[in-house]
Amino acid sequence: EHNSPDVFAQECSFYGSGDFRPNALRLSADGTGVSDFVYKSHRTFRGRLALDGLPAARADENTQTLEVTLVDTVSGCRLKLYYTVFAELDIISRYMVIENGGEHKVRIDKCMPLTLDIPRSDLEMISFYGRHNKELNFQRAPLHHGIQSVGSKRGATSHHYNPFIALCDRKATEEKGEAYGFNFVYSGSFLDEVEGDQTNGTRVLVGLGSECFSYTLGAGESFCSPEAVMTYSANGIGHMSRNFHGFIRNNVMPSVSLEPHPVVLNTWEACYFRINEEILLDFAREAKKTGFDMLVMDDGWFRKRNNDRAGLGDWFENREKFPDGLASFVKKVKAEGIKFGIWVEPEMVNPDSDLYRAHPEWALRVEGREPLLSRHQLVLDMANDEVIDYLINIFDKTFEGVDIDYFKWDMNRPLADIGSYALSAECQGELYHRYVLGMYRLQERLVTEFPHILLENCSGGGARFDAGMLYYSPQIWCSDDTDAIERLSIQEGTALIYPLSAMGAHVSDCPNHTVGRTTPFETRGYVALAGTFGYELDVTKIPEEDRAMIPEQVAMYHKYNDLVREGDYYRIASYSENRYFDCYGVVKKDKTEALYTFVQVLSRPNYHSRRVFFKGLDPEKNYKIEGEETVYTGDVLMNAGYLVQNLWGDFKSRLIHIVEA
Ligand code: DGJ
Repeated sequence: EHNSPDVFAQECSFYGSGDFRPNALRLSADGTGVSDFVYKSHRTFRGRLALDGLPAARADENTQTLEVTLVDTVSGCRLKLYYTVFAELDIISRYMVIENGGEHKVRIDKCMPLTLDIPRSDLEMISFYGRHNKELNFQRAPLHHGIQSVGSKRGATSHHYNPFIALCDRKATEEKGEAYGFNFVYSGSFLDEVEGDQTNGTRVLVGLGSECFSYTLGAGESFCSPEAVMTYSANGIGHMSRNFHGFIRNNVMPSVSLEPHPVVLNTWEACYFRINEEILLDFAREAKKTGFDMLVMDDGWFRKRNNDRAGLGDWFENREKFPDGLASFVKKVKAEGIKFGIWVEPEMVNPDSDLYRAHPEWALRVEGREPLLSRHQLVLDMANDEVIDYLINIFDKTFEGVDIDYFKWDMNRPLADIGSYALSAECQGELYHRYVLGMYRLQERLVTEFPHILLENCSGGGARFDAGMLYYSPQIWCSDDTDAIERLSIQEGTALIYPLSAMGAHVSDCPNHTVGRTTPFETRGYVALAGTFGYELDVTKIPEEDRAMIPEQVAMYHKYNDLVREGDYYRIASYSENRYFDCYGVVKKDKTEALYTFVQVLSRPNYHSRRVFFKGLDPEKNYKIEGEETVYTGDVLMNAGYLVQNLWGDFKSRLIHIVEA
């Protein structure tokens, strides 16, 4: 019993080998799924190796990688485990490569690149659940014996669960206690599994679960898993978030994410599918008056796309909406002195489209079964190279000579009917993963061929808000719900894992199109400031007093954006938890400046001011609050608190800017 693999801490465990906890690998050449890899050798080196076709963190010479090679004599496979240590960021990234050195085909049925056995189980698990318009709701629960997991079978990371989980001390707070964070640099179906085991230990696994993954490796072939990452904080959950923020911002996201993002005016909530040259040029003319930098033409611009029932797949200009063609329209937009962005949804097709009529076999489907429609659309088979080549070709042609600065890449339904015309019966189980590889190939091509173009990813809001997509795009639209109050919890959830600068956030019109709520324009501006900032409303029709505030808000964005993008994020009070108010801040790394956002969601009787306790300041430094004369020490602001006064009414907010005195 004492020598049982079931009680030891393992770096990688194998199905059928006597370790009865959830295993990292299920693989064999003989159909049993059983393997038993044993240590052969290891080496360490500076930097890291690239992952073929997959996003992975960039690592410079300050990082070190450990490669451990194991062999399984029966299947003839070699397994290489890679650990790259980002010491300054307290992050370790992990992936594995399986090489079939045997003579027979090998089938992999489960592949979890990250295993961590923690010798304790008195922990709580943090994870996120959600749905469309309500992404990333925080949940925290004590670990119990047995398996608890989050995952996705939707082919995308999904609105419903994020691949991030954390395990923390039962009493861990924002500032105190231990917290282990885990994430997956991947954008498809995934599984995060945790078991409280018989030894009162905890096993954590992150990777490709068996339900949505299998892969056949021919003799001499190899398979590289996506990368998983983990971090540790001895100083609470807030520090864990900041570890991930630093790592994702500096090592995962493209380098443009370190630069200011343009302030956009997006047409979606402004006019939905009712777009044409005349309306959009009116918008563009407003740029001079209001100060936004870029017009983004969302869905509805191409061929027969007048609603969501038709046209996806037919990426041709629409001469009824743009009589002189796309290139000429974009020239006119640019003549107003702004940039231009455009929406695409490359992975999808409406049955009512010329593309589908010509190539029904390019949509995911299972022979003999009626495919399931969602938003009236089907999913194109990204595992089929012909489809990818077609898309590259059609986009090149349609956008030739069109001066585009930004693409919004959307994906509006999950994968179902998991069958591919391009794969043999034996390889159908590879479809989920090959789909993601095909999609990454397209994204990679876009960002390398057109490095000046800014890419924003989107998936019906935040269904693909993950580190994999952030590798290609420095921003992701985080929800279709643009209501400022709903956004407080969506953005708080997102910011527990991902940097603020990655969160697509816009000021939209009221009553809000999703929840019908009316909030002050000022509050909408403050909340959007915590993300990429922009507008999504009919700027020619909103009330004049709102419109008049836009130049001021744009100036505010320019004033604070360096701080928001590069500063350290602190959660102070959560409306989702207390149901009254919300407060968060960003503090410059050298602690000479900070910006706190306070939102009084609901007003209460006899409560016209509220004391908040700022975080992240230097207790020894003297600070002044913009607009006030008093000098406070950081110690006072953090421990005696600051009184936010004169808040009369619901949805009122304050921006509190603090600089070293
Ligand atoms: C879903 C996105 O999240 C929206 O912002 C918008 O682009 C629509 N799709 C367009 O169909």
